[in-house]
Amino acid sequence: MTPQTATALHPPDSNGLDPETIPKAFAEQVLEGLASHPKRIPSTWFYDHRGSELFEQITELNEYYLTRTETALLRGLRADLARLPAGAAVIEFGSGSSRKTPLLLDALQTPASYTAIDISGDFLRQSVRGLQLRYPQMNVQTLEADFTAPLSWPAALEAAVRQQPRIGFFPGSTIGNFTPEQAVRFLHGAAQFLGPGAQLLVGVDGTQDKARLLPAYDDARGVTAAFNRNLLIRINRELGADFNPQAFRHVARFDTARSRIEMHLLSPTPQTVRLLGQRFTFAEGETLHTENSYKYPVAMFQRMAHASGWTPHQHWLAPGAEVALHWLQC
Ligand code: AVJ
Repeated sequence: MTPQTATALHPPDSNGLDPETIPKAFAEQVLEGLASHPKRIPSTWFYDHRGSELFEQITELNEYYLTRTETALLRGLRADLARLPAGAAVIEFGSGSSRKTPLLLDALQTPASYTAIDISGDFLRQSVRGLQLRYPQMNVQTLEADFTAPLSWPAALEAAVRQQPRIGFFPGSTIGNFTPEQAVRFLHGAAQFLGPGAQLLVGVDGTQDKARLLPAYDDARGVTAAFNRNLLIRINRELGADFNPQAFRHVARFDTARSRIEMHLLSPTPQTVRLLGQRFTFAEGETLHTENSYKYPVAMFQRMAHASGWTPHQHWLAPGAEVALHWLQC
């Protein structure tokens, strides 16, 4: 193909991509985030297929205490979780690999259905296939949706959970990716989505110790750094940008006052990036803020639950850690 034909097919500002196939919400949020001061991109965009794989690798790192600790906590709660309603509709938010789901399903008395909600569609469908095989009697369904926005039930999915007591499941401290205001809005929305009388199990990390936190978000093997940089690789591929991922340094810091881990991509030298016909300049040392991971101690999370229409019923802390599972009711 001659360069001229290529230009005719694709406007010069889309860098060879077909403008029809550019994901619109992603393009809008990246453009808006790069034009902001400080520059930022929502962490929900980490989870393309490669990003989901890298996150799975993170959960197996020695430094990343969270998954291991929460999994052990859930394992020890079988008897307590058996007190949740029988014949329930289990609804998981941000299900990812659904790795922890059996720990809940095995503890429950004859769960009737399982609805997995995640933004990463192909990863979602792949993960629930194994669950359906493991629980042949249970109705397994998926909802590919951004649960950071208000959720509503597609009619076909709602039909499968009608009359069943609702149990929401939101493990992994994913709620920490929201700001406190967004978390309250999410919890409020989850109450509407699940309906009156619902139960909600939320995993929340309250770790405050920097010596534990920093290595967990900046591991020795550089898996978290690769996870962070993969966002730039995704932007290049899907939006036709020309980021050089290796020209950015992975940074993890703990903001004590806000009780949150932040991840950034830092530009050690000045550089300019082209994206969808626009140019974005990074000054020396400027960062692109890619994630917040809030760490809520028990009492702080309970206040947020109250503020969003839930009543804390019970909570459990992992031994020797600040990783909690909260049981809320509405
Ligand atoms: C999936 C949001 C719980 O914040 O610990 C892991 C994501 N980021 N390492 C977290 C993450 C960097 C993770 N959550």
